[in-house]
Amino acid sequence: MNFENKNILLGVCGGIAAYKVCELVRLLKKQGANVNVIMTKSAQYFVGKTTFQVLSEQKVLTDLFEEDSLGIQHIELASNADAVVIAPATANIIAKLATGIADDALSTTMLAVRAPVMICPAMNSDMYENLRVQRNLDVLTNDGFYVLEPDFGELACKVTGTGRLPDPQYIIDRLDSFLAVKDLKNKKVLISAGPTIEAIDPVRYISNHSSGKMGYEIARSAEKRGGEVTLVSGPVSLDSPANVELINIESCDQMAENMLERAKTADIIIKVAAVADYKPTDVASEKIKKKDLKNGFNIAFKENIDILKTIGKIKTKNQFLVGFAAETDDLEKNACLKMENKNLDMIVANPIGVPGAGFKEDTNKVQFFYKDGSKEDFALMEKKAIADILIDRIVARIG
Ligand code: CTP
Repeated sequence: MNFENKNILLGVCGGIAAYKVCELVRLLKKQGANVNVIMTKSAQYFVGKTTFQVLSEQKVLTDLFEEDSLGIQHIELASNADAVVIAPATANIIAKLATGIADDALSTTMLAVRAPVMICPAMNSDMYENLRVQRNLDVLTNDGFYVLEPDFGELACKVTGTGRLPDPQYIIDRLDSFLAVKDLKNKKVLISAGPTIEAIDPVRYISNHSSGKMGYEIARSAEKRGGEVTLVSGPVSLDSPANVELINIESCDQMAENMLERAKTADIIIKVAAVADYKPTDVASEKIKKKDLKNGFNIAFKENIDILKTIGKIKTKNQFLVGFAAETDDLEKNACLKMENKNLDMIVANPIGVPGAGFKEDTNKVQFFYKDGSKEDFALMEKKAIADILIDRIVARIG
């Protein structure tokens, strides 16, 4: 979901994790959302109303009987909301929502809400695991609320268990996924990302600068659209995307083994990885020592399997195959040649050397070329946005 101008209603309850929700408001605002906060009485023991007022740039509702607008502000908030998030959701609000109790500003407002609701429980692990709390959460899930599982870790009460409020960025990612149109439902999406590394000896290897960012964003985007996503990844320093099957590999051969097997049943295959085209002919079983290198360090290479080309040869007409190409010159010609040679339905090409675009950046400048000869040129934009557009285009083409 693009949060630009979306009205997010945020219910804050009385738990220590309320302090994390300040950051949630800041991040949502940064993404263009209008945020309205309702605080319960106990939430105000943890974070002051003024903090949320300043961060949201809106009046915070705490008491139904102190409101303006003839006492109907809570109804307006409920009907204007595009989505509601309750974080931290205490055992108390969970019980009230499950039974329909309306005895304060938040619980009363919630009875008038028709928008999708995400509940983020956070509490002591024994409380969270309590049968009544779990039963109430089941009621909410069955009613169509999205309950975000709390994290495992050290809690404020010094107990280690399940009950931590997840990081604000993770909450936003899951909200984004919850609200997205599920137009990839029942589709198997296979993605490769990152570099491959090719061993020279037990301590040395050759590789490339790929960060994996583009492929990981595509995996996130496909997952939030309801796809069953498998991500075959070379070594990267990125968080694993939620709800995605992640297969970590190192070499091209390992990537090939995993991709070729899964490609048989995938509906969509997106090959983003920067695969090493060559590997050392012989991998030394022991560390190569300087004293043994009389004529300098000379490595003989042999060609790696072209995974994309191999998949292109076996793909069926119902499978949609996407390749990537980073080019220094003749972008269109080289990319289209690769699309033809590898039997692709589409290729995403980006020029190397454009400021702000490239392996390690969060932004990229891409062009899409399609098998039918059509093309699209995009301005420099976030890799996340490129991922969403790519999935849009694939969905439109697979029908
Ligand atoms: N690719 C692959 N296996 C390889 C090499 C590349 O699957 N051994 C895939 C990449 O994942 C990418 C596409 O092929 O989707 C294009 O990769 P690129 O390195 O640009 O093209 P090459 O075919 O290797 O051609 P060159 O390096 O000569 O430009």
